[in-house]
Amino acid sequence: MNLPDLKEAKIRTNKKSRIIKDDYKVPNEMKNIGKNKKYYIKTYGCQMNVHDSENISAILEDMGYVKTEDLKDADIILLNTCAIRENAHNKMFGFLGRVKHLKETKKDIICGICGCMAQEENVVESIKNKYKWVDIVFGTHNLHKLPNILKESIDKQKQEIDVVSIEGDIYENIPVKRDSKYKAWVNIMLGCDKFCTYCIVPYTRGKQRSRMPIDIINEVKDLVKDNYKEVTLLGQNVNAYGKDLNIDYTMGDLLEDVAKTGIDRIRFVTSHPWDFDDKMIEIIAKYDNIMPYIHLPLQSGSDRILKLMGRRYTKEKYINLFNKIKEYIPNAAITTDIIVAFPGETEDDFKDTLDVVKTCKFDSAFTFIYSPREGTPAARMENTLTEEEKNNRLYELNELVNKYANEANQKYLNKIVPVLLEDISEKEGNLMGYTDTMKLVNVEAPKSYLGKIVNVKITDIKTWSLDGELVEKN
Ligand code: 5AD
Ligand code: SF4
Repeated sequence: MNLPDLKEAKIRTNKKSRIIKDDYKVPNEMKNIGKNKKYYIKTYGCQMNVHDSENISAILEDMGYVKTEDLKDADIILLNTCAIRENAHNKMFGFLGRVKHLKETKKDIICGICGCMAQEENVVESIKNKYKWVDIVFGTHNLHKLPNILKESIDKQKQEIDVVSIEGDIYENIPVKRDSKYKAWVNIMLGCDKFCTYCIVPYTRGKQRSRMPIDIINEVKDLVKDNYKEVTLLGQNVNAYGKDLNIDYTMGDLLEDVAKTGIDRIRFVTSHPWDFDDKMIEIIAKYDNIMPYIHLPLQSGSDRILKLMGRRYTKEKYINLFNKIKEYIPNAAITTDIIVAFPGETEDDFKDTLDVVKTCKFDSAFTFIYSPREGTPAARMENTLTEEEKNNRLYELNELVNKYANEANQKYLNKIVPVLLEDISEKEGNLMGYTDTMKLVNVEAPKSYLGKIVNVKITDIKTWSLDGELVEKN
């Protein structure tokens, strides 16, 4: 048994990350363990987790399991968890209740917990003591060991917990079963060294490790060969890409090299304003296949709160960067993340946040009430706001954010925009996809158009999506 350790998770040394190219193996006796059996994965949280679930799916399929979307049909159920806020915890424990219920009637179902919550000491402690019926727990650093961890649990007929809290390595050869045939997630870096004071990610995901440019570019080239239309480059703060490699190569260089592979669409998340340099802006503006969509988390508009958060920029610097991006990439849609009610946030601090929203008029924003995460510095800061005050701030912010989101959407009426049709829409006879600026569009089109980038004339604006009609096939 290996348990997570927050103190170890905090450590950062100068040691270079190891790049491991051939460590993934399914032990012989596990190769058919899933024959005639089904797996179900519930994924919470960010795109990084979604992509990890694609790796886990491939590993399970290597053991013979077949995917099911129906929980009741599953022989193995995995919860790939998120630790970013308390409500992610609540959701996961709620779901676990459903699994326990199923296990009462179908005893040999295997239940596993992985992802960011598995990296948290208090969570694993409670699974060990109160959820003894959970079979396996593994973390973000060792998902490639799933077959071995499963074997241990089956052989010993007991709960197997294997979570390591280390700075982390880079595993290059973990198999992947992608959810989409048209758009793909590509990790460019793992972990984070920013240690924003509210954030648990640097503890659950380890230190910043950039993959080598050649490995990323080869992955994208293979995707082009496989007819993929879009890649999203993933990292906790992609702008810092390459800074840990000691080669003179930055996110701007990577974007340029990925653009040169000829893939139709390139996106990237998430950016931190701190490392967003001019080269990046220049390259995004230069290449048509780098999408004019930038997610640029603000978190707060108050200099005082930004300092307490450890964000290393001011309101003014953020707005200047925002304006510079808009100047060089005029059609760019910029979205953001905002936290309200950070410890000590006054009415004036909150007004500063509203002020930035009024200045930037974001295309949309994800807004959150601050949630203390055990082990982070902010969790030790005093938070005096009542629940009502927190909710009121969130409500006021959302009203403003929605107003500007709606204004941004209205500008699309009667415009012709490119859309990658990626799935069947909930709307009968329609397909759905996203514009280059990441607006969700429903279009009446035959299924044979799936995977195509088409021109769509926007005919109606809904609150969270646009309706349109096909103009022509590309
Ligand atoms: N409380 C509330 N929101 C948080 N986020 C990260 N940590 C916390 C927290 N402790 C938000 C940030 C981040 C997004 C992914 O989640 O806004 O950008
Ligand atoms: Fe968390 Fe800050 Fe790192 Fe983003 S940059 S993952 S908010 S510590």
